[in-house]
Amino acid sequence: MNRRQLIKQAGFATAAFAMSRDLFAANTSVFTQSTFIDEWIYLGSNENPHGPSKAAREAMSKALLSTNRYQWKESAKLISALAQPHRLTDKNILLGAGSSELLGLTTLFASFKKGNIIAPDPTFRLWTTAAQHMGLQIKWIPLTEEKDTDLTAMHSAIDSDTSMVYLCNPNNPTGIPIPDQELRDFIKAVPSHVIVLMDEAYTEFEDIPSTVPLIDEFPNLVIAKTFSKIYGLAGARIGYLLGNEKIIESLGNLQPWQNAGPSAVSVAAALASLQDQDFVTYCKTENAKNRAIYHQGLADLGLRHTPSTTSFSYFDTANYPGNFVATLEQNKIMGARSFEENSTWMRLSIGTTEEMKQVVSALKAGS
Ligand SMILES: Cc1ncc(COP(=O)(O)O)c(C=O)c1O
Repeated sequence: MNRRQLIKQAGFATAAFAMSRDLFAANTSVFTQSTFIDEWIYLGSNENPHGPSKAAREAMSKALLSTNRYQWKESAKLISALAQPHRLTDKNILLGAGSSELLGLTTLFASFKKGNIIAPDPTFRLWTTAAQHMGLQIKWIPLTEEKDTDLTAMHSAIDSDTSMVYLCNPNNPTGIPIPDQELRDFIKAVPSHVIVLMDEAYTEFEDIPSTVPLIDEFPNLVIAKTFSKIYGLAGARIGYLLGNEKIIESLGNLQPWQNAGPSAVSVAAALASLQDQDFVTYCKTENAKNRAIYHQGLADLGLRHTPSTTSFSYFDTANYPGNFVATLEQNKIMGARSFEENSTWMRLSIGTTEEMKQVVSALKAGS
């Protein structure tokens, strides 16, 4: 091992120690530092800077002790806890190691019919490379001028070869939700042989209506949700699908071991997080406050932004006098990036109050 590797390993060991100290600190109610590994501020992956909640951390540390056993009982408890509030049954839920695994699984199911998938552009694309490898063609439908999801164009793009429509609500990277009635009308108009995959990773930040109540009416509707965002458990890797019994059964049959993706530790964290609604309220309030700090900073600089309802901001850097990304990186702030070709629009995740103040002052000093 050379000197650089040694230093790197020592750095990670120190960081791991600092993290485990935090995990077990009884009186720390929220994480205040999202930058525990080094002094950089990371605002690129829409991670929750406040999570996991104290309740989740305690549940995880307790669950560590029983990781010699499989997590059947706890997973079953979690599935029931996810089903009950919606008056659904356990057969309407499928667990996965993060919602991206389940977006991939639904795409795999869609690929049995081959054909095409319809998706907005830009949107969350993590699952799309796998979709193309499975032989599916993706028909990208540009957003409107106002950066809204163009449901009319998406509906017109459906043909007899369409196997799935993907919608992200609110959309990533714009943060804009689809008006509820328009969304319902759209789902109704999609032919029943076409799967509608709704990605609802960010609905909780502003109580955007979920499509879960439509499950009974539309057997082709599959909804993906995650514990990565509002609950601050991105690294724990736990998400779930909701849908009609039949489609959930078909999707579950594609998992080598149904519902066994998330570890006992992650399942315990998810269960505890569901009980801790004070933490959810805290994250919502902080996110809205810190997004407003950033949006005020953008307005002071003459930069426009979309009306985001999420834990990230989408904004136009065209009027920024310097190099936007370089200015942030010179100030050890990572994460601003573009999602559209040849576009000046960028996305930045919302961090803590201190972080967003640092972002704004760096941008102002660099302008
Ligand atoms: C819209 C959207 N869906 C899904 C995911 C994936 O989340 P998970 O961590 O549950 O895989 C993300 C992550 O950023 C996302 O932005």
